[in-house]
Amino acid sequence: MQKKFNITGTCIPEKHYMVNIDNKLKKMILMIEDGEYFTVNRPRQYGKTTTLYMLSRALKKREDYLVIKLSFEGMGDERYSSEKSFIEGLFIQFKRIFLMDNENQIMQLIAENKEIKTLDELGVFITELVLKSRKKVVLIIDEIDKNSDNQLFLNFLGMLRNKYLLRSEGEDFTFQSVILAGVHDVKNLKLKLRKDEKRKYNSPWNIAVDFNMDMSFSKEEIGTMLQEYSYETGMEVNLEYFSERIHYYTSGYPFLVSRLCKIIDEEILMDNRGTWKEIYLEQALSILLKESNTNFDSLIKNLQNNNDLYNIVYKLIIEGNELSYNSDNPIINLATTYGIFKEMDRKVKIHNRIYEQRIYNYMISKVETSTDIKGYNFRDNFYYLITV
Ligand SMILES: Nc1ncnc2c1ncn2[C@@H]1O[C@H](COP(=O)(O)OP(=O)(O)OP(=O)(O)O)[C@@H](O)[C@H]1O
Ligand SMILES: [Mg+2]
Repeated sequence: MQKKFNITGTCIPEKHYMVNIDNKLKKMILMIEDGEYFTVNRPRQYGKTTTLYMLSRALKKREDYLVIKLSFEGMGDERYSSEKSFIEGLFIQFKRIFLMDNENQIMQLIAENKEIKTLDELGVFITELVLKSRKKVVLIIDEIDKNSDNQLFLNFLGMLRNKYLLRSEGEDFTFQSVILAGVHDVKNLKLKLRKDEKRKYNSPWNIAVDFNMDMSFSKEEIGTMLQEYSYETGMEVNLEYFSERIHYYTSGYPFLVSRLCKIIDEEILMDNRGTWKEIYLEQALSILLKESNTNFDSLIKNLQNNNDLYNIVYKLIIEGNELSYNSDNPIINLATTYGIFKEMDRKVKIHNRIYEQRIYNYMISKVETSTDIKGYNFRDNFYYLITV
């Protein structure tokens, strides 16, 4: 099957041209070996799910790891009506995972424990599971944003946290590592403590260590995908030029990197096989800046839904003001969470040039259609990315 550049969801190496993220995986595996619990919080379409998928493939290749990758996306609302039905939902996923992995001993353990009704009992089950398994067990939960306001899910995290703390004291066995992924950080959420809970914490996940790894793609990493593409298609691609320029425009935002390549390959080249000409990149930028896609939709929606955010981005892009970067400032923090801002030399910068141009076009259009004359205070010297 001919591979393609992928822009919808998880990238699969057998189907898609991909940036090689082995260096990132190695760092994550070191954290797992250290028994760390951590959260991967990055903006939309930043490669979280793909990274976790590749991580779980890498761990499964080793004989000493067992990976439980849970998804709460498909769990219907009724699963959250009681601890019992929540746990039933978890067990259905456990069964699928252990069947696929041929973990017969653990399948038997599940069969013996199908009457489990409470989170406390689930905690004991996890101890047994970890003891029975000859491998280190890693729990991965993606898309946590969908659950983060759910008390039952937070209680589940609270139970995992307590087990982690007991393990540190040598009084329990539990998951080697737990990795949560989503846009927002669960660390900041408040947990309503149950009456019978002994430990007094106000966050269900204050045990997580920081995960500082840069998940954007470097110039060299972008080069690995172009090289794979060029090798498999026979297309001539000036790797140095295209890796550098794609990085220049996207700052390595995974979705934008793959999207630009896909436009060149599928919309610009068409029958025109042979060589990637330099002009194709500018043409691809021009197409990208005009098209609607889910990434830009959520970017603009985030600006529309928050006036403070809109105003600070306006100051930066339209008025050309400088802002110092302060992560205690909630609005700067939020814009960073959404992938709109990044820190550079202690200043706030728009994450990438494509966002900058797209937001510029949007805000200018808003001013043009507004009746407020005072708004016409544009930055004269704003450069246009697109020359064609
Ligand atoms: N290793 C990679 N190589 C090339 N492109 C990638 C890679 N990882 C991610 N991408 C690009 O980013 C897009 C989003 O990836 P993914 O679904 O893994 O991100 P996500 O952070 O989980 O997104 P969401 O927040 O929507 O769940 C992919 O469809 C692809 O275009
Ligand atoms: Mg995802």
